[in-house]
Amino acid sequence: MSIDPLKYRAVLGHFPTGVTIITGLAGDEPVGFTIGSFASVSLDPPLVGFLPMISSDRWQRIRTSGAFCVNVLGTDHSDLCWRFSKGSIDHPFEGVPWTKAPGTGSPIIDGAIAWMDCSITDVVDAGDHHFVMGLIVEMEHATPEIDPRPLLFYRGKLGQFIPH
Ligand SMILES: Cc1cc2nc3c(=O)[nH]c(=O)nc-3n(C[C@H](O)[C@H](O)[C@H](O)COP(=O)(O)O)c2cc1C
Repeated sequence: MSIDPLKYRAVLGHFPTGVTIITGLAGDEPVGFTIGSFASVSLDPPLVGFLPMISSDRWQRIRTSGAFCVNVLGTDHSDLCWRFSKGSIDHPFEGVPWTKAPGTGSPIIDGAIAWMDCSITDVVDAGDHHFVMGLIVEMEHATPEIDPRPLLFYRGKLGQFIPH
């Protein structure tokens, strides 16, 4: 059975995701791109994963460092989401404050509601994507006092989480 790519996108678009920016260092230069296909994988050992396009230039640059940091975006971070998803913006980090993660040095973006500093353990072929798995070496989340809210992506639009 052949699948219409537009239908594939439309159907999969009905599954909402959180929004992350996966970051890394290419030499001294911070690199990052918006990723919705983030997933928790294993507690023991602590593994997480994401799926970048094989053809992604930014993924190839992050890959060479052997590490990445997952930055979970908050509800006020729509601008960051679009900024780091556009191939046309050469230096998305310009004007974006960040610090080096304590384990691997990968960038932690100021204001991320949670971050996971990871070393790459596996890269598996998955069609036109790679499945990248990383071992968490350091991690943190925002304090409950600031009432962190996630940014969500659904049917091509960004929105917010409203608890029942
Ligand atoms: C909300 C959102 C989620 C995304 N999730 C993914 C993803 O999981 N995998 C992926 O390869 N691209 C994803 N993208 C697209 C990439 O951010 C974009 O194509 C990439 O930054 C381009 O990288 P390149 O310049 O290295 O080719 C997403 C974009 C948005 C706006």
